[in-house]
Amino acid sequence: MELTTTGALYAWIAGHDKWSVLFTLSSLWVIGIAWSAIYNVYFHPLRKYPGPKLSAAFSFPFLYSRLVCHDLHHVRRLHLEYGDVVRIGPDALSFVKPSAWKDIYDKTVGKAAIIRHRRMYNGWNIEPNMANANGPAHAKQRKVFAAAFSGLAVKEYEPMLQKHTQRLILKLADVAEEENIEAEMCQLYTRTTAHIMAELTGSRPTRKNTRRESIAEGVYHTMIISRRYLIFGWLYTYLVALPLLLLTYEMSNFSAEQVKNRREGGTDANIWRFAQKDAEGNIAMSQHEMNMNVELLLFAGAETTATLLSAVTFFLLQNKEAMRKLVKELDAAFANDGDLTLNSLVRVRYLTACLKESLRLHPPAPSNMLRMLPAGGAIICGEALPGGTEVSVAPYTAYRLPKYWTDPESFVPERWLGDPKYDSDAREICQPFSVGAQNCLGMVLAWHEARLILASVLLKFDFVLGEDSQEWATGQRASIVWDKKPFMATVKMRSAEIN
Ligand code: HEM
Repeated sequence: MELTTTGALYAWIAGHDKWSVLFTLSSLWVIGIAWSAIYNVYFHPLRKYPGPKLSAAFSFPFLYSRLVCHDLHHVRRLHLEYGDVVRIGPDALSFVKPSAWKDIYDKTVGKAAIIRHRRMYNGWNIEPNMANANGPAHAKQRKVFAAAFSGLAVKEYEPMLQKHTQRLILKLADVAEEENIEAEMCQLYTRTTAHIMAELTGSRPTRKNTRRESIAEGVYHTMIISRRYLIFGWLYTYLVALPLLLLTYEMSNFSAEQVKNRREGGTDANIWRFAQKDAEGNIAMSQHEMNMNVELLLFAGAETTATLLSAVTFFLLQNKEAMRKLVKELDAAFANDGDLTLNSLVRVRYLTACLKESLRLHPPAPSNMLRMLPAGGAIICGEALPGGTEVSVAPYTAYRLPKYWTDPESFVPERWLGDPKYDSDAREICQPFSVGAQNCLGMVLAWHEARLILASVLLKFDFVLGEDSQEWATGQRASIVWDKKPFMATVKMRSAEIN
């Protein structure tokens, strides 16, 4: 009878007492780990790249930083100490070079593309949606929704965007009437963007608002739990994070209902009108794929735009001169409420510059977006790297690095408007919507939505930053998206035009 390795191991265990078995196996385990650490530091193909020895030897420093939602600060520290290319794990390099965006995110190597790293994207959900699929599967799903997020479609959504913006204005007006009450701006913005995404993905306007609001608040926690699952598996998910799991379950149910109740015809603001159909007129993907993608869109669309709105409001409240300039331009452009349209807002250049500057200082997707090189490897920023290497750009670090920006920590919209003082800024390194075939599908929508909501709010209200929110943007934790701290502000109806 052929003796297998497992069989031989069992036979050996049976022939020894339990303590010597335990001792031998744990010694082998420790030797294995020590050898792999020595190999990673001294013999690994990435050994020449700078970084802490601990990160070269083991994955846990980066994984731990992601677990506690501190990875962007961890990676930033490493870049400041070690330079533009840092080894953040045995097989992982982080880049802060302008050409890295194109090389990593916008490149197909022969036939094998650089793919999204499973550790970051799949969570417990191994079913592909647009954001974790790769290659043809990704292209197929993206094609179904592409027209629904084009400039043409977004124009059709304008009345719906105006309606939700006006609801936010009414809410803020209520707060403004009360003495000594502050508004929590992140929550108000997130609710608005969540309502917009809920309406776009199919729910009827009569649906109770509270459900959508709880969905909006669940978004961030869903991200955290999915990251932790990747590290600790189901045990953590069930034992420690049950309440969060219930939120994610609610989110999945909500998405499935959205798909079930979707309206494909008519003139309503809804993505299904524009979705690609097959020869029989059915949406060109399975019911399950639709559910998965609606869940993604609710996440991706609500959370990020709310971060942009919160951050730009915060930076403007901190920078009174920029606020004065913006409000003056808005006053001049929009004497009547009716003039405020998606098209007319594009012409207010200072508004777009403020949003760009906020995306630089507080990008809604601040963490490294991990990609994996295909078997044959690839050239990234002129370096030939082996297959299986994890590569990524560190956005939060790159957008504030003194070598790329004049006054890197200051909010300066003028740097986007041709001010000669900022001529040497490496603006091309700032890619808050990413680049290439897997860049942000909702970019056009996000720009219009952010311009409309910010301009409408600033035309109507004055804000004063709350005492406890003076440092709102400093040191926030993030797990792919930000764990936004409450952002409190006093709201008053605007009294006079700015000179
Ligand atoms: C300021 C707002 C936004 C920012 C900064 C932003 C940023 C990003 C980034 C950086 C990615 C790439 C993620 C990665 O590769 O890991 C992405 C992907 C995506 N975003 Fe956005 N996003 C914003 C708003 C939106 C909105 C409003 C939608 C609504 C539809 C949306 C839908 C998506 C989708 C579906 C993907 C995955 C695309 C694909 O894989 O093909 N995003 N976004």
